[in-house]
Order: sequence, then structure tokens, then C-alpha cells
Amino acid sequence: MEEKRREGLLEEKRLFFPPSEFHSTAVIQNPEIYELAHERETFWDERGKRLEWFKPWDKVLEWNHPFANWYVGGKLNAAYNCLDRHLKGARRNKAALIFEGELGDRRVLTYQDLQREVSQFANVLKSFGVEKGDRVIIYMPMIPEAVIAMLSCARLGAPHCVVFGGFSSDALKDRVLDAQAKVVVTSDGSYRRGNIIPLKENVDQALRDVSCVEKVVVVQRTSHPVDMQSERDCWYHEVIKNVSSVCPAEPMEADDMLFILYTSGTTGKPKGVVHTVGGYLVGVSTTHEWVFDLKEEDVYWCTADVGWITGHSYLVYGPLSNGATVVMYEGAPDYPEKDRYWEIIEKYRVSILYTAPTAIRTFMKWGEQYPSSRDLTSLRLLGSVGEPINPEAWMWYYKHIGGERCPIVDTWWQTETGMIMMTPVPGITPLKPGSCTVPFPGVRVEIVDPSGNPVPKGEGGYLVICDPWPAMLKTVYGNDKRYVDTYWSDIPGVYFTGDEAKWDEDGYFWIIGRADDVINVSGHRIGTAEVESALVDHPSVAEAACVGKTHEIKGQSVFAFVSIKEGIEIEDSLIHELKAHVVLKIGSLARPDDIFLTAELPKTRSGKIMRRLLKDIAEGRTMGDTTTLADAAVVNFLKKNIDAQK
Ligand code: WTA
Repeated sequence: MEEKRREGLLEEKRLFFPPSEFHSTAVIQNPEIYELAHERETFWDERGKRLEWFKPWDKVLEWNHPFANWYVGGKLNAAYNCLDRHLKGARRNKAALIFEGELGDRRVLTYQDLQREVSQFANVLKSFGVEKGDRVIIYMPMIPEAVIAMLSCARLGAPHCVVFGGFSSDALKDRVLDAQAKVVVTSDGSYRRGNIIPLKENVDQALRDVSCVEKVVVVQRTSHPVDMQSERDCWYHEVIKNVSSVCPAEPMEADDMLFILYTSGTTGKPKGVVHTVGGYLVGVSTTHEWVFDLKEEDVYWCTADVGWITGHSYLVYGPLSNGATVVMYEGAPDYPEKDRYWEIIEKYRVSILYTAPTAIRTFMKWGEQYPSSRDLTSLRLLGSVGEPINPEAWMWYYKHIGGERCPIVDTWWQTETGMIMMTPVPGITPLKPGSCTVPFPGVRVEIVDPSGNPVPKGEGGYLVICDPWPAMLKTVYGNDKRYVDTYWSDIPGVYFTGDEAKWDEDGYFWIIGRADDVINVSGHRIGTAEVESALVDHPSVAEAACVGKTHEIKGQSVFAFVSIKEGIEIEDSLIHELKAHVVLKIGSLARPDDIFLTAELPKTRSGKIMRRLLKDIAEGRTMGDTTTLADAAVVNFLKKNIDAQK
């Protein structure tokens, strides 16, 4: 169904040109920028100058395929560029963060406020022995201290590793161990629709047999009782009291590590994507200004959680390096009412909104009465990220949120790319609903067949990136081989994104979806192998295979086929138990919507699970060719039973 829907997209003919007023005041007004950027190294050399460097670079790029070193010899600090740099001029007392809590509380931090608190917290970390290169885990709700902790690490040159607050203690433990973190920063809890998620309790469980972590700093948010271990744990508000706000920013090599962020891939073990200071910051700073057409007076709101790459690049590093005013909201879009987003836009006069298609589809379902009862006239640009946006959702967003006056930037990128790679540049690029349009200036992509040959226009294939780009991942943490194998080996010479895409007659790109074993649930990447290993961890399970199933709101949901060990009675309660087990092992974001229990999984004669077939079954499509099946009866059984379940 989903693929059909995407296939039909090439027939989408509507074109939306930038409104003339938007064009004439846009940051980028000259379409020649696309051609000028063909001189890639000159282009990125020029862009590097937007930051403040302690020492200029000698060479813009050293490319030792597939390892890049950007801005070689240059020295800078990301926190300095996001904070101190703005204190010299009129931005000193400009709001950097406007924080809105789920309960309606508000905190506004100016650039000066933020610089002061970041310096103080950096001094606290220093007093715990955190030095350049030490890893710090941040497991936090969407509160200002999450941003403060990130920038404090950046100030010291200690790579942070933010773990999304929705991950379970088991998932947290894996990441703490892989990163060999020295300190964990967390909070007592996190609010979600009025409930409390016990983050500190999860940290305690995760750290039970872990020896690398020396200190846990706890921000008081919910004030519900938590256990504090006297040697290891301390309260943020206590340790930061009376600490000096003078903390020099560590001069970092451009190629030093800024952070690690774990993401799902085709194996059961998430990979630590490593981003560098220099190239990453140039990439996110440039794209943030050009893609969002950022002006000094904008109020910019990115709804992504800091636990994901969008939160890193376009809630923290991009906007703050550009001196923007950023809105940060802690809670759910329907708390206390379904108009919470629109209330926030009305209240703060938000001018740029960056959110995900899954949210837009949810708003569509709730109905236009919620946005239409609020004043959204402050908006002038809308953004979308995380998964393909279907033209219906695009049109709804355009009409009911943007009042038919705001361009929509549909931005395609990945944790690994660090920065937006395909997107309209809103003052110059005509829009097509459902297409992320064309590559950002200075980026070159292609659609190829499995041998790496470009496919003709109108056809589909694998999306690859042809040249290095500044915000590209440096490696997989501690595993260069995995970096090479995962990204640079499937298709000769180029970076393989894992996505399938098409391009049309105008050279516009249309993302079809993942071509690998990754499911995109509400814009979150979930590895099928991760869910499968969580399922087989349950004592009753013999084998498991998961596929993505098209879902009206979430884009995709997890559909699991599970074979049960012999002698175990198949009962309905087992399904609930298995779902709970996945939540325990990974987090609720990975909970399968459907679990189908069976005696056997369909396999080929060589013993491989037939995933494509399972996908067909999950989607309710025809059965396809089953002649290579070891036991076609298994498939017929599966199909019959699933139909009966519906
Ligand atoms: C998908 C999120 C279509 C894609 C920034 C990619 C998209 C994966 C879009 C990366 C988009 C992201 N249109 N698909 N505009 N943006 N994707 O690492 O499949 O969480 O490979 O990064 O999301 O997800 P990640």
C-alpha cells in the first residue's frame, strides 16, 4: 500500500513557487548558488568562515576514502560558537531558549544566561574529573538542563552521548557500556501527559553492574522521591551552587569528536555515530540558516527531542550557533488539550516550525478546528523531517497551519549525515508536495542500481551520496571497520544511505523508504534485528522475525512473527507479555503493534527467513511466489490465520 502510494507520487504535478515577498527578502535569493556550489571545496571553504575559529584551517578537506578530515588544522569550540560569540554584540540579552514545560511553567534563558550556566556546569563536570575526550551520557527530559549539559560537555571537549528518555534501562545500559561513560546526567523524572517517567530509577537499574560511571548528576524536575547513592549521586541544583562561571572553552581540533549518538541499523546492536566539531558545526550552521531562511527576529521552534539527531542539529547546534531564539517544549502535543502546539505558536509568535509528518497526520486526524481557533499568522515557514510526507499531509500542513502563505521545507537527512542533505532552499526552490526536491548546494547524490550504475529518470533505486560533506559521520564509535562495511561497501565508491528513492523528469527526488532492515516508526529508526533479539530473549520464544507494516499515522508499525518453543501453550496473554518484554528491553517506541504467534516461520530451502513474504502477509498483499519455500503450508497457515484475526 505504502509503496503503491509512493509510486503514484511521480504523478504529483502541483508546483508551488516561493511567494514573491518571501523570495525578495530571503537569505538566499539567487538560484545560481546551485551551480556555484559545484566547486564543492571552495563552497565549503567559504562556509567555514561563518564560525569563529581559534586557529584557521590549513586545508578544507583531506579525503582518504572513506575517511574525511574537514577543516584540517583548524581549532574551534562548539559551545564557544553557540554562546560566547554572541555575547559581544546585540545578542547578549536576546532570548536563546524559551522553555515551555508540560505543566505550563516557563523559563527564558538569554544568551548570557545560557553561557553563564553552561560555564558553571562545565566547571562542575571538571571537578568530577571530566576531561577532553571523556564520554558523558545525558538521559534527560526536554528541559533546558539537557541543552546546558550538552554544551557544557562541548565546552570541555568531552563528547556527549544523549540517550532518548523513552529508552529503557537495558537500552541505556548498552549505550553506557559501549561509550564507557564516566558521568551520567539525568533527572529524577520526566513528565508525559501528566504522568511521571522514572528516569533516575532507570539509571539506577542500568548502572547496577557497571563500573565505568563515577558520578550521576540528577536534575530535580518532578520532585518525586528517588534513591540517591551518597558516593555516586548528586543533585544538579546543589553542585552548581556558588560554582565559578568562568570556564575557558577548550580549543578543539576540527576533527575531534563532538558527540556520539546511537542509532539503529541492520544488526541487533545500535551503532555509535561519531560527529566532529568543525565539519559538523559548519554543516548544521549553514543549513539551519539557509533552509529555514533564518532572520535575526525569528522565533524558531523545532519539536524534536534532544535524544535524536534532529534535536542535536536543529534544536541545539544549528540554531544556537546562528544566534536564534529557540522554543523548547517539554511535553505531549495533546496535553492538556489537542491545541497545545497552536497555543504555543500563538503565545510566542513562532515564525518557523519544524516538525514530523507523523505529528502532522495526527493533527489532521484530530481536525482543523484546533489550529483554526488559534492565531497562527506569525508563521512564515514550515519544515518537515524524519519520514516521507504524503501529499495529503503536505497540503493539510500548507493550508491549515501555513495559511497557504508559508513555504514547506521537506528535509531529507540522517543521523549519519548530521545535516540536512536534500531540501528546498525556500526562497528559490519550487516545491512539489511529497518531494524533498533537490540536494542542498554543495551536496551530490545519485539513485543507482545494486552495482552502482545510475538509474534513468522516472525509475527507482538506492539513494547514495557521491562526495564527502562537512557534517558527515567520522566513524562508528570504536569500530572503523563497521563504518566502512555499513556505509561504504554495499555500492562501490559511494556512501549508501539505506534508502530507496526515485527521481522525476525535473530531477526532483522522492524518497520511497528504507531499503534495509530498518523500520521507521513515527520518524524513529527501529532495527528489526533489535526487536527480534528482544523477543528471542523471552523464555518462550524460539525465533522471531519483524517487518514494517504501513500505518496511517505512524508511517510504519512493527509487525512481529514469533515462533514459540515446543511444548509451550500458545495463549493470548503471551502476546501482551511479549509486547511488554520488548518495552522492557528497548522502550515503548519499539513495541510491536501486531504479534503473530506460530509454530514455524517460513524459510527458504537454505534456511533463510522469507522476510519479503512476511511483509506481504503483514500488508495483506498477495502471496507472491512461494515455490522456493521449504514448506509452503507454513505460509498458507500464516496467511489464513492472520486473515481470521482481522
Ligand atoms: C528517513 C532523521 C523521507 C529516511 C533526520 C532516513 C526521510 C531516515 C526524511 C533517517 C524525509 C528522514 N523524507 N524520509 N524528509 N527524513 N527520512 O537517522 O529513511 O533518525 O534514512 O534521521 O529517516 O532517520 P534518522
